[in-house]
Amino acid sequence: MKICCIGAGYVGGPTMAMIAKQCPDIAVHVVDLNQARIDAWNSDALPVYEPGLDEVVREARGRNLTFSTRVDQAIDEADMVFISVNTPTKTFGIGAGRAANLEFVEKCARQIARNAKSHKIVVEKSTLPVRTAEAVKRILSSEGNGVTFDVLSNPEFLAEGTAVDDLLHPDRVLIGGESKEAIESLCRVYASWIPREKILTTNLWSSELSKLTANAFLAQRVSSINAISALCEATGADVDEVARAIGTDSRIGPKFLKASVGFGGSCFQKDILNLVYLCEHFGLREVAAYWEQVVMMNDYQKRRFSERIVKTMFNTVSDKKIGVWGFAFKKDTNDTRESAAIYVCRDLLRERARLAIYDPRVSVEQIRADLCYACADRNGQVCGTDRDLIENNITVVDDCYAAADQAHAIAVLTEWDEFKQVDFAKVHDAMHRPAFVFDGRNLLDREAMESIGFELHSIGKSR
Ligand code: UDX
Ligand code: ADP
Repeated sequence: MKICCIGAGYVGGPTMAMIAKQCPDIAVHVVDLNQARIDAWNSDALPVYEPGLDEVVREARGRNLTFSTRVDQAIDEADMVFISVNTPTKTFGIGAGRAANLEFVEKCARQIARNAKSHKIVVEKSTLPVRTAEAVKRILSSEGNGVTFDVLSNPEFLAEGTAVDDLLHPDRVLIGGESKEAIESLCRVYASWIPREKILTTNLWSSELSKLTANAFLAQRVSSINAISALCEATGADVDEVARAIGTDSRIGPKFLKASVGFGGSCFQKDILNLVYLCEHFGLREVAAYWEQVVMMNDYQKRRFSERIVKTMFNTVSDKKIGVWGFAFKKDTNDTRESAAIYVCRDLLRERARLAIYDPRVSVEQIRADLCYACADRNGQVCGTDRDLIENNITVVDDCYAAADQAHAIAVLTEWDEFKQVDFAKVHDAMHRPAFVFDGRNLLDREAMESIGFELHSIGKSR
């Protein structure tokens, strides 16, 4: 059996590395148009930071795992082709800001149709709007060269930062399709290391919709607890205590109830907007409005956090240095897509603050590119003022201490473990007074921080 995966990103790379590791008899070829990305997968500095991923790749690469840009050849040789390309939110035309941009998926389908000389099982791995498989099927059969295809939907549920563990021990694997034989072929791949009872099979559309629904439910929980955090700050309740109290109800459960500066990542917002677009398309206005509110609450939470910083610091942060700890959308990843940090930093920059940003895994180039993107207008133009602020008011530094040196405040935006190990007395000595800390992840202990002399502001806790 030979597998090809088109797209060597955060999903395709780790997923295929795990399949190759667990199935030494299957040749797995991961292809991408991006030469630099492929070079990185073939080097010691993988393009994706994930705890434990280096070992998985090292074990399989060169044995039965190949990374290359030979897309046509890989398709031709494979029995099973995974589509794992990006499906960002459309930024133009019909459905702009909501619908998924399916350009890359369609191009893949056309490329598969052109290069296939024998029967192929085509697996949708990317998260796609419901009924995309229909379009993929039509495109595949449009070449009319007599080659047949089975289309399966096999959405990935791994979370970044825990991808290796999620791939090793998934809650479930979901396979949607029509052909029993094709479904069984893919089941056999996963059954090499995952118990059969954890492999669920459904029809194509249920599988596609389940992925959007899972992400919408997860994001909804975060927005729900974040909504309550605003009420906690107003009333004197403590959101972590509320979360603990409700989480012990077995019907609610304790996970995904951590109030924060707002959810980020490549999936939640994109998938909900996609769901909203889909509902509107089918005339379900109330359903669309219901889910859209989850994203609106998240935008409110990010805005509320930067406004709280400004308000607390005597209504001005102009020319004040703010140390920003963390820029990734969560710990243990170098991914910054839709990170709350981007929007908080943009708002503070526009208040003319000077930001010293430290993240253990995110590069200075990435931080500047993200801020330019967040400041850009609909045509992608960044105005002169914003450009100057990004140029002159941002420094990216090498550790927490440099970020805090001579700072008026610290904003904790990602929950990296190392932030808990910092020598806070040293940090306090280096800061201006009052030494404000705005903890967007409720990472820090109030008693310990206040005994050193910090003024700590956490999410969902009044002072
Ligand atoms: C998510 C889904 O969990 C995963 O199943 C799907 O395949 C892809 O999308 P991911 O975006 O990688 O995974 O990370 P996740 O752990 O879900 O966190 C998303 C965001 O929500 C992060 O910004 C995180 O900090 C935030 N979050 C999560 C909270 O603010 N509070 C919580 O309680 C949980
Ligand atoms: P995800 O988080 O879903 O994995 P990424 O953006 O990290 O998304 O990865 C998607 C990858 O797919 C990118 O590296 C991109 O270059 C690649 N890609 C997009 N379209 C094609 C295509 N037609 N052929 C090969 N690779 C593609």
